[in-house]
Amino acid sequence: MGAVSWSSEIDRPEDRHRIMMRRGSLDQSQARAVLSAPLTINSVTLPNRIVMGPMAANSPEPDGRPGDQTVAFFERRARGGVGMIIAGGVNSTRRSYEETWFRPLLRLETDEFLPEFRKVADAVHAHDIPLIAEIMPGFGRMGVPGKTRPIISASPMNVVIPEQNFPNGVIVPGGRSTPVPDEASIAEIEAFEQEMILTAERAMRAGWDGVEVAAHMSYFASSFLSPRTNWRTDRYGGSVENRARFLVNIVAGIRRKLGNHFVVGLRIIANDYMEPSPGPEGFAAIAKKVEEAGIDYVALSTGCYERMADSAPMVDGALIDSGDAMIFKKALSVPVLLQGLHDPMNAARAIAEGHGDAVMLARQMLADPDYARKATDGDFEKIVRCDRGNYCMRRLVLGMPIRCKLNPQMGRESRRGAVPPPDRLIKAPIEQAVLAATGSPTLMGIAGKFVRKSH
Ligand SMILES: Cc1cc2nc3c(=O)[nH]c(=O)nc-3n(C[C@H](O)[C@H](O)[C@H](O)COP(=O)(O)O)c2cc1C
Ligand code: SF4
Repeated sequence: MGAVSWSSEIDRPEDRHRIMMRRGSLDQSQARAVLSAPLTINSVTLPNRIVMGPMAANSPEPDGRPGDQTVAFFERRARGGVGMIIAGGVNSTRRSYEETWFRPLLRLETDEFLPEFRKVADAVHAHDIPLIAEIMPGFGRMGVPGKTRPIISASPMNVVIPEQNFPNGVIVPGGRSTPVPDEASIAEIEAFEQEMILTAERAMRAGWDGVEVAAHMSYFASSFLSPRTNWRTDRYGGSVENRARFLVNIVAGIRRKLGNHFVVGLRIIANDYMEPSPGPEGFAAIAKKVEEAGIDYVALSTGCYERMADSAPMVDGALIDSGDAMIFKKALSVPVLLQGLHDPMNAARAIAEGHGDAVMLARQMLADPDYARKATDGDFEKIVRCDRGNYCMRRLVLGMPIRCKLNPQMGRESRRGAVPPPDRLIKAPIEQAVLAATGSPTLMGIAGKFVRKSH
């Protein structure tokens, strides 16, 4: 790594030359070759280095079963040549289903929907693309409490998101504070571990290739990682070994139950940008402990809810400029999936320079389902580039079905030109009005003044 920063310099004309020089270190055909190289992760071989990252954008039916739209959404990305799909936000325990603020979310904490999950696997496998379920134990500090069900976390610490820390385009006057969770009991933690193992088994029974244990943002599993959010004095708090224990027990349990060939990944915070923080070295030390329990890859994520803007950065390269990804790469033996590299040149360069083994793209896969095909064909100029305006995320936060500003087919892949269903005909104009109001800095600024006054 040189001292040159890709992300911070992109908007500084005086540095364009240096960026071009760096770009010059890899030409487009070399970049294409880097991205087109297969990658073996345990029992699956990815045809290229482009992975679709997890997103709660897969439109399950209201009861959480994968519907026709879920199948069509994933099939479209598999057809677009992506190397592996990680299906986002899968409820994996009874509690995650009860407390999620994303509704509906895919549900794999029950046997009920296995036939529908199998349909998704069949559609993706028809293109020889591996399919992984991101399994969520619980929403922790970001959960929604019930009347008699408090939310739980490693320690009783809530999340405070200052107004200015929301991502671009997401305007929340006055910011947001979540309720204070209860400290999870040992019995509750152990019950989660067992439920996660059973959910992994369900994924296998439905024909999926693997699971990714979710320990990112400010959800239940990630609350154990940092002493800032984990004040426990029992065997789940304190040392690195103790803070890794929840994840280690899940992974070891999955391995014991499902053998060595089922793919098991870990999504983990690379840097939460908080104070105090274990920093990338500390998060990598935990990932190393989990690796020893038997994971096959580590997928990095940036930020947390307190620093939500950093979880969906506006420019490429946060994990590269800082050297954060390299810290994981040096600590681990398993492949590392990089986040936050939309530009195929930047993606190829990061892999070629050894920061990671593949790139994991989320929003870019909504904007252009053919991204991977275009990148591996060397048609970089034809890629529809995500504008990072976060229209998709705004809809997620407002509880609306996810759509992409630049790709009118996104979220409607199953319709094939048919007239929208009646409920969509009614709801769509209302959603547009809400989006217009909540997307206006002027209107939201006025609302913010009222919020601050009433505080
Ligand atoms: C609509 C939407 C839904 C998301 N849902 C999830 C999710 O369920 N699980 C997850 O780990 N990350 C989720 N993310 C975060 C992405 O995986 C990713 O970390 C983030 O968008 C930044 O990467 P990108 O620049 O490639 O989009 C979501 C992002 C978006 C835009
Ligand atoms: S709406 Fe589409 S283009 Fe805009 S940020 Fe989301 S994925 Fe990217």
